[in-house]
Amino acid sequence: MSAAVICIDGPSGSGKGTLCQMLALELGWHLLDSGALYRLVGMAASKHQLSFDDEAAIAALAAALDVAFLPGQQGEPSRVMLEGVDVSGELRSETTGNLASKVAVLPAVREALLQRQRDFAQAPGLVADGRDMGTVVFPEAPLKVFLTASAEERARRRFKQLKDKGESVNIATLLEEIQARDKRDSEREHAPLKPADDALLIDSSELGIEQVFARVLAEVSARFPAS
Ligand code: DC
Repeated sequence: MSAAVICIDGPSGSGKGTLCQMLALELGWHLLDSGALYRLVGMAASKHQLSFDDEAAIAALAAALDVAFLPGQQGEPSRVMLEGVDVSGELRSETTGNLASKVAVLPAVREALLQRQRDFAQAPGLVADGRDMGTVVFPEAPLKVFLTASAEERARRRFKQLKDKGESVNIATLLEEIQARDKRDSEREHAPLKPADDALLIDSSELGIEQVFARVLAEVSARFPAS
């Protein structure tokens, strides 16, 4: 491995996206949002009208995926371009999340994205956000965290996020979708969602993000004394 790596794995809604951004900012390290790569492959497959059974075609698409992560203007989130089109908004939608979950079960797609993800490990370090960062992509990483929260709490958080964006959603439907996605992600044969044997487990159901951040930062100072 060419640089220091911190892996933060867990289901969506556990707070890992926010935690990773806070850590990358605090440490001045790079950030890998691996979920965004699966989302982009799902979107591209749908745009090119590929069948979700056509593993070889989707893997070929993943291997050659034309994406760019552009820094946002000051105070704005970064922009994501797919085949030259700004897809930053669409990337985060529930529809795209479901497409991502479908392509994520395909082993050839996961294989096609492996090296692309490893290439993010550049000096001074990388904070890697995902499901299999600690188990598959960076198994040698010195610090692995598995962040979780109850499905109910994650549905509540997602509900609030979508409501703040002005989207009308039903919390019971969200909970069902989260449970279905958890099941698909944790029961899939390849790289299922599970903590690495040496991961630090944190349940954020009852913790604020600042408490989670402080806990992980203490661990970072212990394991990367120079950071
Ligand atoms: O974290 P997210 O919601 O953006 O992830 C979208 C989907 O991609 C989710 O269903 C799980 C899948 N995924 C994965 O299988 N492996 C990763 N490292 C990241 C995401």
